[in-house]
Amino acid sequence: MKFYIETYGCQMNVADSELVITILSTAGHTLVSDINEAELIMFNTCSVRAHAEDRVLGRISNERHRKKANPSLMIGVLGCMAQRIGKRLIDDHLGIDFAIGVDQYDQLPQILSSGIYKEHIKLDFDSEQVYPDLMPSHQSKTCGFVTIMRGCNNFCTYCIVPHVRGRERSRPWHDVYADVLQAGKQGLKDITLLGQNVNSYNNAEIDFSDLLRKINEIDEIERIRFITSHPKDLSYKLIDTMAECSKICEHIHLPLQSGNDRVLNEMNRGYTSAHYMSLITRLISMIPNIAITTDLIAGFPSETDDEFRDTLSLMQDIQFDYSFCFKYSPREGTTAASFPHQIAEEIRLARLQEMIDPQREITLSKFRSNIGKEVEVYVEDISKKDANMVSGKTRDYKIAVLPGNSSDIGTLKTAIVREATAGTLIC
Ligand code: SAH
Ligand code: SF4
Ligand code: F3S
Repeated sequence: MKFYIETYGCQMNVADSELVITILSTAGHTLVSDINEAELIMFNTCSVRAHAEDRVLGRISNERHRKKANPSLMIGVLGCMAQRIGKRLIDDHLGIDFAIGVDQYDQLPQILSSGIYKEHIKLDFDSEQVYPDLMPSHQSKTCGFVTIMRGCNNFCTYCIVPHVRGRERSRPWHDVYADVLQAGKQGLKDITLLGQNVNSYNNAEIDFSDLLRKINEIDEIERIRFITSHPKDLSYKLIDTMAECSKICEHIHLPLQSGNDRVLNEMNRGYTSAHYMSLITRLISMIPNIAITTDLIAGFPSETDDEFRDTLSLMQDIQFDYSFCFKYSPREGTTAASFPHQIAEEIRLARLQEMIDPQREITLSKFRSNIGKEVEVYVEDISKKDANMVSGKTRDYKIAVLPGNSSDIGTLKTAIVREATAGTLIC
């Protein structure tokens, strides 16, 4: 069967899609990049905010018409939304043939060969599932994602992830090591280790710092990244490891969510703004050129205007290289969705805008501060805007373009930054 897969949501889903590609290819099916050729279309979905779900529902309804011309075409829903509302999706007659949850992907070949898809809604959680001995089929030739843990135990009160991904479990470190080594042997030099809270990785007495040190020894790999770090679990040991291991890139994504302690407590985040600041101070003192990015939520239930201003003022104090700013989105089944004092949509939107505007200024000044400096760029592609330029990322996770051609793809180049926008360094 020719299958096509479209991925939404976080890098975890990107990595899961690459696992699904391995599972289906091993069973004799063929991945196609053109949806018109597909006999099976799959959507790997995200439930983190209502907007993420609405987008996929829109996409599915756009593709349904294909079934008229090709009645044997199948549409499958994978991922977090399948896990959350898979049964509802099938019952709603949206043209979806099957829904399969995040712990059941190894059942896919069986579901496809059974022929009775609708009776195969596989949504059970499996707290042991780590997909052992399955190497992902990396779709990029330069940068790879490797999942080191699945699930989440933190239950931040706004977040659907623990409800759709199940409990936290770490993959065996030797599986992770083997996956990174394989990616390196395939020529991928930039590896991102994935987990909802990588700082709590633990397998057979190997913690996250130990794992990083092992991976730092793999000759084929040049750059190591990881997402996501949780401020409550980020240890000085890890910061020291980042400073000492030459391949760990000078970037950390450290979601703050709110700059106000009462709101952080309501969110069940497990740290204060002072603790967060102490981590930032430590990170900068150990890794002076580190880029720091974050996630922020505007309009969490009961957040007052003053409390929201605490977030704005911490943004100014810290000067994040980039902030992913989100308007709070109530998720059915999470604790915060039933909190009293939900904030009106227009206030959430206005607060969101109040975050985005100053962040854009800060990001621009961060990018501009690189002008005249030498950066190392790992070339990933030809520039979309100029065929005589190539593009890639710096070690501190900024997109850069520089003169070059296709023979530069997959190589590390150093170049001087000449100009900068709020999204690109121009060398
Ligand atoms: N595990 C990661 C990120 C998970 S989701 C972490 O702990 O940070 C990515 C981001 O989406 C979160 O950091 C949060 O900022 C945002 N998010 C999650 N649930 C949300 C919700 N209900 N409304 C708005 N933003 C949300
Ligand atoms: Fe969600 Fe919190 Fe887990 Fe991140 S740590 S996935 S925000 S519950
Ligand atoms: Fe979305 Fe699931 Fe990731 S809800 S953010 S795809 S873990």
